[in-house]
Amino acid sequence: SRTAAVIPAAGRGVRMGPGAPKALRTLNGTPILVHAVRAMAASNAVTLVVVVAPPEDTASVRNLLADLVLPDRTDVLVVPGGENRQESVRLGLDALPESVTTVLVHDAARPLVPVDTVDAVVEAVRDGARAVVPALPLADTVKEVEPGPGNAPEPVVATPERSRLRAVQTPQGFDRATLVRAHGASRSPSGEGATDCAGLVERLGEPVVVVPGHEEAFKVTRPLDLVLAEAVLARRRA
Ligand code: CTP
Ligand code: MG
Repeated sequence: SRTAAVIPAAGRGVRMGPGAPKALRTLNGTPILVHAVRAMAASNAVTLVVVVAPPEDTASVRNLLADLVLPDRTDVLVVPGGENRQESVRLGLDALPESVTTVLVHDAARPLVPVDTVDAVVEAVRDGARAVVPALPLADTVKEVEPGPGNAPEPVVATPERSRLRAVQTPQGFDRATLVRAHGASRSPSGEGATDCAGLVERLGEPVVVVPGHEEAFKVTRPLDLVLAEAVLARRRA
């Protein structure tokens, strides 16, 4: 039995603005994707990393990762991605060998997740949870609104109790069979609109549990996040 990490990295990064696909942009000179692969390979449990690349950049991503020095236990595969994250994850799952029983799904866009967070997710799956997500309490109060057109003021519908809310990160960890079943079901209309893999598992009626996330596992989404990520790296090297 083997633990693999699937890294969806095929997005363009529209919110980052014009430029290379987000996973290929650099933090202190090193592509975001390389940071993310190293973060997964840092876990002793992970012996395979499957990178789901932007289709037109699959060859260059293969070259980039071929030069990477990783622990001897770790194999790397690169496959072309799909139209959306869910499709990309499914293409990554299709590439897994039979021997894999535990799967981590980790956004390339979370390059700085600490190894302790990765290990905590793996441990919870090994302890019997079929779906595990790292998450943090929210700093902001959250309002549910009735979305309006353009910039028109939006009526507030509800204010969920903040202490019961969690902001979800990755890697999310799964028993392989459960995740494959969830992605199979997602081809049907009931799978539409889920924004993470765990959401698909919830729709199967299977339990999902939360373990503590980490503030350095934040998602690099907008230009300001590049500034924060480079500052975190600089602090680590200090
Ligand atoms: N992703 C993917 N395939 C897609 C879309 C997204 O593999 N077709 C991946 C991204 O590369 C990223 C992760 O899913 O690592 C989380 O998505 P997000 O942060 O939204 O990245 P993008 O979709 O690239 O960004 P944006 O939504 O701003 O375009
Ligand atoms: Mg996106």
